[in-house]
Amino acid sequence: MRSAYEEEVLSPALQVMTKANPSLLSSGKFYLAILPTGLVVGCGGWSPEQPGKETVEQRLGHVRHFAVHPDWTRRGIGRSVFTVCVRAACAAGLMTFECNSSLNAEKFYRALGFVRIREIDIELKPSLMLRGVLMRRNIYEDLVS
Ligand SMILES: CC(C)(COP(=O)(O)OP(=O)(O)OC[C@H]1O[C@@H](n2cnc3c(N)ncnc32)[C@H](O)[C@@H]1OP(=O)(O)O)[C@@H](O)C(=O)NCCC(=O)NCCS
Repeated sequence: MRSAYEEEVLSPALQVMTKANPSLLSSGKFYLAILPTGLVVGCGGWSPEQPGKETVEQRLGHVRHFAVHPDWTRRGIGRSVFTVCVRAACAAGLMTFECNSSLNAEKFYRALGFVRIREIDIELKPSLMLRGVLMRRNIYEDLVS
């Protein structure tokens, strides 16, 4: 994420972003990419709830906490985790994914078929904002194709 943010912004942001989210982890909608050696090299998931809120909009899901081990990027791990998310979300009746992308991850989400909606300030906690991009992608087409 250093490519997109200054150290003074990134350092406090990562303290929040790297904290495990127990409800997401136990939701059954969060996935790990694990090597045969047991090393966890990637993670990501989705939720019907908007990040940080209880709000649920019918047929809309939210992509959550995607990350790949820095030594294992650009090998298709993020894309693979996303494919699993799409299948599960389609099976649950969702039609659209939204994502609060970090600035550095916009190209990744674009490669996955997301379009940029607008720049946003992501509230990581009260008085701690991170500049990001709201992105959106239809997923029902994956089901019919
Ligand atoms: C964003 C992230 C999850 C991508 O994971 P990844 O496993 O490297 O992604 P993939 O290898 O599946 O990439 C799929 C495609 O996305 C695009 N892409 C991924 N990373 C990219 C980058 N840094 N620059 C440009 N395009 C990129 C490419 O088109 C890539 O396909 P290609 O390698 O065949 O060209 C990973 O870089 C990461 O953990 N970043 C730090 C944490 C973060 O920002 N997470 C997102 C929070 S919203």
